[in-house]
Amino acid sequence: MKLSGLAGMGWLAGCKPSSEKQASTELDHIVKQVEKSYQPIFNMSGYAAPALETVRLGFIGVGNRGSAAVARMSRIEGVAIQGICDVREEKATAAKGRITSSGHEASIYAGDEEIWKKMCEREDIDLVYIATHWATHAEMAIYAMEHGKHVALEIPAATTVEDCWRLVMTSEKTKKHCVILENCCYDFFELLTLNLTRQGFFGDIVHCEGAYIHDILDSFFDEEKRYDFWRLKENAARNGNLYPTHGLGPVCQILNVNRGNKLEYMTSMASADFSLQAKAKELGRTDKRFEAYTDKPMRGNMNVSSIMTNSGSTIMLQHDVSTPRPYSRLHLISGTKAFAQKYPLPGKIAVGHDDFLGKAEMERLESEHTPGIVKHIGELAKSVGGHGGMDFMMDWRLIDCLRNGLPVDMDVYDAATWSVIGPLSEWSVANGSQPIAIPDFTMGRWKGNKVHEIHLESGGNTNVIKA
Ligand SMILES: NC(=O)c1ccc[n+]([C@@H]2O[C@H](COP(=O)([O-])OP(=O)(O)OC[C@H]3O[C@@H](n4cnc5c(N)ncnc54)[C@H](O)[C@@H]3O)[C@@H](O)[C@H]2O)c1
Repeated sequence: MKLSGLAGMGWLAGCKPSSEKQASTELDHIVKQVEKSYQPIFNMSGYAAPALETVRLGFIGVGNRGSAAVARMSRIEGVAIQGICDVREEKATAAKGRITSSGHEASIYAGDEEIWKKMCEREDIDLVYIATHWATHAEMAIYAMEHGKHVALEIPAATTVEDCWRLVMTSEKTKKHCVILENCCYDFFELLTLNLTRQGFFGDIVHCEGAYIHDILDSFFDEEKRYDFWRLKENAARNGNLYPTHGLGPVCQILNVNRGNKLEYMTSMASADFSLQAKAKELGRTDKRFEAYTDKPMRGNMNVSSIMTNSGSTIMLQHDVSTPRPYSRLHLISGTKAFAQKYPLPGKIAVGHDDFLGKAEMERLESEHTPGIVKHIGELAKSVGGHGGMDFMMDWRLIDCLRNGLPVDMDVYDAATWSVIGPLSEWSVANGSQPIAIPDFTMGRWKGNKVHEIHLESGGNTNVIKA
């Protein structure tokens, strides 16, 4: 069942409910029925796959994001880059040129939309790293897992409810990791607040907020920045929170979602579009490539979604990529004892209603509670780079877990739960912001799944190679 774009595809029009309340009930019913049709096969939560001394890597999609990942991965000990695939040969070749260490025999796969399958079929690849556009993620990840590969998948992992389920069932069936590459889970302030949460610093968590607010409107119309205008197409076809995981991932870790807690239901509201269609119209006057968009309704600029969790903590998420305003990846934690907020930078913490902690108190808190992974690799990660170091910390940690046979920090249930907010928000927006149930991808096992800790008690022995 594809909930993505249901209203747009006429699915709802075809069975128009007599009232909006009825629509919500019908859809909730369908979600629950779909949930029932899946049976657990194997619990991937906390699963440790056999250790791999060398992680043999293949990349699919090496445009802006993927080529930077090739460069970062080549700095990690125990990585062998075996294949680089991009439909555009010049991108694959350029990405290969970004490898800075020895021991890689990266074959190029290019020139054909399906050639990535050939790379996935190789026996000598352990991990497929996917950084193509959203619509391709699930199909590629499923194929790779079915061919015996672990998968690291850019955000969001899937764009439909059905594909979220397919990812879960394939990972369970194959016992292959399906890791969502949510780099914000490794940002310094997010890791500090996670550690503080585990120490009980915030008390009970009442409410969290997250956002992806980034004015990238111009890039939608720049083919060099987005292959085949993929982001323009997404924003023209779908109205919801299309990019929920930057804000949601770190917050779900704090709330132990899928491990003792779960997301219950959500509601979503979109502003009108005040700039996307206007921009397409303006460009379409002189550029034929945008003519098709001049009369198309586009995604509302701002999407605001609210989520209820089983623990009773609430989450607010925002998404706006087309308004001229300062960048924000809001990360806000409000507990019974303390409060934290990042964006604007720097991140701030308060323990009462008077004011935020001063510089000296913040430094003391950081020196006492900086998590082990940051102490171990944080400074090196900053020097390698990638959003200030968090991208490298994420990649290093993934390889270190695979090399040491440790459970991964972000498993397939996280990938599905965080990504499904996209299609569910579309449905809610299209239906007067009515609430919709969030599928339980753990199929009930969230109650018994152990809380996951990002610590270095085992592992942490993967070195970083000098550039
Ligand atoms: N986590 C982050 O901070 C972050 C930042 C930027 C982008 N991303 C994610 O990374 C992904 C890629 O974004 P981008 O900005 O690099 O886009 P991009 O358009 O620059 O790169 C996508 C690449 O995929 C290639 N491609 C398309 N179809 C293919 C196919 N069938 N086979 C092989 N290659 C194919 C394209 O040629 C292109 O080079 C998206 O999912 C995006 O959301 C994440």
